[in-house]
Amino acid sequence: MTATTDATWTAGTSGSLGPTGRPRPVFPDPIPPEEHGPARIVAMVNQKGGVGKTTTTINLGAALAEVGQRVLLVDFDPQGALSVGLGIDPRPLESTIYDLLMEEPDITTEDVLLGTSVEGMDLLPSNIFLSGAEIRLVNEVAREYALQRALEPLLPYYDICLIDCQPSLGLLTVNALTCAHSVMIPLECEFFALRGVALLMESIGKVQERLNKNLEIDGLLATMYDPRTLHAREVLQTIMQGFGDKVFHTVINRTVRFPDATLAGEPITQFDPSSMGATAYRELARELLARWPARV
Ligand SMILES: Nc1ncnc2c1ncn2[C@@H]1O[C@H](COP(=O)(O)OP(=O)(O)O)[C@@H](O)[C@H]1O
Ligand SMILES: [Mg+2]
Repeated sequence: MTATTDATWTAGTSGSLGPTGRPRPVFPDPIPPEEHGPARIVAMVNQKGGVGKTTTTINLGAALAEVGQRVLLVDFDPQGALSVGLGIDPRPLESTIYDLLMEEPDITTEDVLLGTSVEGMDLLPSNIFLSGAEIRLVNEVAREYALQRALEPLLPYYDICLIDCQPSLGLLTVNALTCAHSVMIPLECEFFALRGVALLMESIGKVQERLNKNLEIDGLLATMYDPRTLHAREVLQTIMQGFGDKVFHTVINRTVRFPDATLAGEPITQFDPSSMGATAYRELARELLARWPARV
């Protein structure tokens, strides 16, 4: 992780107002880390589906890898959309994150870990088998810590680990929140964007009280924003009223380039490197790195 502080970026602004209505800060160029690890774990969470969790995991991961961070992506949704979005068909895979969670005796992290087309970014894939994990974990001792146990051996080799959660607040998501240092919450700029967010905050609060007192909220990310519609602008304003500074300055616009990139099985930073979407995720990577405290 990089060693920038809040002071570095809050001081400078471009002078213009961003879509969130605040002056747009100028985020510093990230410095590639000289040494790697241990990874900061970020859970991408919203129990609503279709809000941009998977898209953000892929593209933020790729943008972080571009600036020299070693990135581990964890597909923690039995639908396997993260794996698919990286061009991997997860259905025939014999070893997935499920085996690591269940501590299957003959399967090691090396058996599960896959490289991606992005240098410095690897993936722990999942497929439909993961849907059996919640039921099997229920009777385990310390069932909320299964993912933490599974990821532990890998953390020294990465700077950032992004966990793409399934759209639910069930035991798998609780596992992700329990091992994470922080949470990112993508919100679609559409009607009912905030529906369910109170419940999500309550769940995060419970995890903080009972399982992971150091869990932080990195921020809420407005996605699928269409600046041409009054509706999207109003939704973004409502999000700002509710969460203020917790909302990332970076806003992700709605563009068909994202579904196109998913179909191609590539991050947008490779599929269309100079597109607005690629630029936005690079900006998000800079904003995130600027928000995080220097590694201790
Ligand atoms: N900014 C965007 N603009 C347009 N389409 C998007 C955008 N972000 C995501 N999508 C598309 O919306 C759908 C849902 O996004 P996804 O990231 O899979 O959401 P989630 O993981 O929260 O269910 C996908 O088809 C994806 O390609
Ligand atoms: Mg998803």
